[in-house]
Amino acid sequence: MDKLIIEGGKPLKGEVRISGSKNATLPVLAATLLTDETCILRNVPRLLDTNTMIKLLKSLGKDIEWDKDKLIIMSNGKPNPVADYKLVSTMRGSICVLGPLLTKLGEAKVSLPGGCVIGVRPVDLHQKGIEALGAKVRTEGGYIIATAKKLKGARVYLAGASGPSVLGTANIMMAATLAEGETVIECAACEPEVEELANFLNEMGARIRGQGSPRIIIQGVKKLRGADYRMSFDRIEGGTFVLLAAMARSNFLIRDIDYSQLTALDDVLTNIGVQVQVEKNTVRVKSPKVLKPFSITTYPYPGFPTDLQAQYTAIMALTNGVSVIRDTVFPDRFMHIAELSRMGARIRREGGSAIIEGVKELSGAPVTASDLRASAALVMAGLVAKGKTEIRRVYHLDRGYENIDKKLIALGASIKREKE
Ligand code: UD1
Repeated sequence: MDKLIIEGGKPLKGEVRISGSKNATLPVLAATLLTDETCILRNVPRLLDTNTMIKLLKSLGKDIEWDKDKLIIMSNGKPNPVADYKLVSTMRGSICVLGPLLTKLGEAKVSLPGGCVIGVRPVDLHQKGIEALGAKVRTEGGYIIATAKKLKGARVYLAGASGPSVLGTANIMMAATLAEGETVIECAACEPEVEELANFLNEMGARIRGQGSPRIIIQGVKKLRGADYRMSFDRIEGGTFVLLAAMARSNFLIRDIDYSQLTALDDVLTNIGVQVQVEKNTVRVKSPKVLKPFSITTYPYPGFPTDLQAQYTAIMALTNGVSVIRDTVFPDRFMHIAELSRMGARIRREGGSAIIEGVKELSGAPVTASDLRASAALVMAGLVAKGKTEIRRVYHLDRGYENIDKKLIALGASIKREKE
């Protein structure tokens, strides 16, 4: 396993390009299981999670080749409905092969992904959705086993106690593309990644409308074809760099970003005193000397994303007052508090909230990355802290941020990667 060693306080300048979206790529890759024809995906981020999904698809009947940032996905003529525990357990995103396998092959046996440090992550909504389409579902030996000769369109209400489910919506939408008749998903997730998946499926010949809204309507078709598609930017990577620029008081240029997908973040930045300049697909930020505290609550899209909560906690550590951060999507997602506190942040947790008393500066310390977005928060803190920060277990970061250390070094950061 690798660790990162950061010498804080170096000025960041120049420009950084935002990579293709991880959270859009994973379900779009799963969607290629719906056809035997070849699919081409462009602007695919080279990440641990992308590679895990590629391995999983290879085990399910695909041959896949990389060509720079392009993936060519072909059928190898040996479809397999079993998604193995070893691959699914390392990445929760792999649950989205369930819908495509079931609707294409009539059966699917997918390992349950298990819990993770950001909290309990149930799959009841995925199960409810495919049952509504007529599948018989049981859990056996750690696997969810679903069968259906032919799925039938239905009306499905797809929200749980914490609101809609992103991958749940993706799964049911994919299953419904080859079902008989019409499916209506009510309380569907509105995240841009769901919209992007629907657009890709429509390129394959699916008949989906309403994507991006809470009601998605899918007219089943007999067959889907191959497609050639370019993935859009990663809005969480984009948001992370915007927050880093604000925290480091740097005005480096952020390229290949569609800022209109980050309106909740933009509103928050205005409230903490940060100005944002948007020109075409680029963004620059201008920060005041001292940031103002501002409390937030995370919500499903278009609310403030839970995937930027840890990074926002890091920035709130350096203000001149008190802020409260509440995560309604994953109320246990606060593993970064203890590590940021080791760097001098004053944060305490109360239930699903973090209460942060801003300090003047952070100091470098040895810390451990607990999950993907928490790792990004620690990198941000390390870059502005006084002295040296050593971040262990950075494989979490490599799951979701393409070439993060190289991108930061190009901006002028002092970062070394070493084996632990
Ligand atoms: C996706 C994203 C993840 C992001 C999350 C919320 C990918 C690969 N991952 O995860 O980065 O943090 O959306 O924006 O796209 N829930 C249930 N029952 C279910 C499914 C979910 O109760 O069957 C709950 C979850 O515990 C959570 C909430 O619903 O409280 C939202 O989770 P969900 O949108 O499903 O997250 P993912 O799609 O797994």
